[in-house]
Amino acid sequence: MMLLGTQRINKQGVLEIGGCDTVELAHKFGTPLYVMDEDLIRQNCRRYVSAFRALYPDTDIAFAGKSFMTTAMCRIVAQEGMFLDTASAGELHTALTAGFPMERVLLHGSNKSVEELQLAVKLGVGRIVIDNLLEIERLNDIAEKSGKRVGAMLRLTPGIDPHTHKLIRTGQADTKFGFNIKDGQAAAALEMTLESRNIELKGFHCHIGSQLLDSSTHEQAVKIMVGFIANAAGVGYKAEELNIGGGLGIRYLPEHNPPSIEEFAERIVSTLNAEIKKYNLHKPRLMLEPGRSIVGEAGTTLYTIGAIKTVPIKEHPGRRIYVSVDGGMSDNPRPALYDAKYSAIIANKAAMKGDTVVTIAGKHCETDNLIYDILLPSPQTGDILAVQSTGAYNYSMASNYNRFPRPAVVLVSSGKAEVIVKRETLDDLVKQDIIPKKLSG
Ligand code: LLP
Repeated sequence: MMLLGTQRINKQGVLEIGGCDTVELAHKFGTPLYVMDEDLIRQNCRRYVSAFRALYPDTDIAFAGKSFMTTAMCRIVAQEGMFLDTASAGELHTALTAGFPMERVLLHGSNKSVEELQLAVKLGVGRIVIDNLLEIERLNDIAEKSGKRVGAMLRLTPGIDPHTHKLIRTGQADTKFGFNIKDGQAAAALEMTLESRNIELKGFHCHIGSQLLDSSTHEQAVKIMVGFIANAAGVGYKAEELNIGGGLGIRYLPEHNPPSIEEFAERIVSTLNAEIKKYNLHKPRLMLEPGRSIVGEAGTTLYTIGAIKTVPIKEHPGRRIYVSVDGGMSDNPRPALYDAKYSAIIANKAAMKGDTVVTIAGKHCETDNLIYDILLPSPQTGDILAVQSTGAYNYSMASNYNRFPRPAVVLVSSGKAEVIVKRETLDDLVKQDIIPKKLSG
């Protein structure tokens, strides 16, 4: 069993998070329930900031909002003195609603709409990360009309292929993201941006992939990016900033062993320093955009176990026990999308040894198994199942499939639990529906 962050087993043998008894949380707030460990989130934020600044003082860390975006999370990120990476008008609006300082916001997107760019310029977003040529033109026009010079970065594609699920790789040449360095698109984009009077280019950005369990691809990316900065210096452009995106992996299973934030910082900074020295460059400000490694292990989803069914299968041991929970792919689409693996604990039997291998099934009209073949202590109807490491890309990717209301999110710390996102109601599900006149008779 793996215990993450403030997860503990109390005297009653029940799983606690942030000093809160998870069975009590399940009864009080209902299930499925996303539980977020505030202390672990803050600890991860602080470790990122301090580990990098200890080695490279001019570093800023932006939290990648796409991994877990709520107004309360924006407040935590603001309090921790970090930047915030947004990827849509919706994420930008969330930041605005939370009162997040706009000069510390980045706006991403591979096809930003005119409206999104206008909103970002109006709000005074600090950096718009330009992804394509159309955006250079549009942004320059919008900035000109609003009489502002707009801070921007160019997203570059270093052309390296990280070892992670094919749907979460982005740094390879065959991608929709960014300007390719090797085929000269990045150099052309740089020239065009420097000619755009209303864009203030701060530097370059890349993001190579997600859930990376070692830092080698990041190191390669740093080398390629610094090489590009050196070429840019050769044509008279001095990049002030280098943003290397997010991507550090987390523990979903006990055998996962990602580098610690401190080890990651050490590898990145030593590579960066060596490359800067090699080209004899000034030191750019370093930026990173971690998402998963800040919130992933801090999230636990609580479910109530319902129906249990044993079915015959050909493979050993000749049967599969399906343990159904009251959620599934609508609150966690990752197993279905990426074949993602998860660990779980029966919250009310946390001190007991596993004795039964079961498959955790969701309750959607799909084969939405959340976990195959997990050893648990005699799961029974009514038990509370705690699926771990669900803090990133679960709530943020949740849907209403099968018209399931999205779960509530509670933030726990020092024995207190506070709702930061309310559970959707059945009425919420029909709130946007309209019955045209011709159907209302
Ligand atoms: N910066 C940019 C530009 C990104 O595209 C991403 C993630 C990040 C930062 C944060 O990466 P992280 O530190 O979280 O790895 N839905 C997928 C993950 C998609 C990641 C998209 N971009 C999943 O559930 O695995």
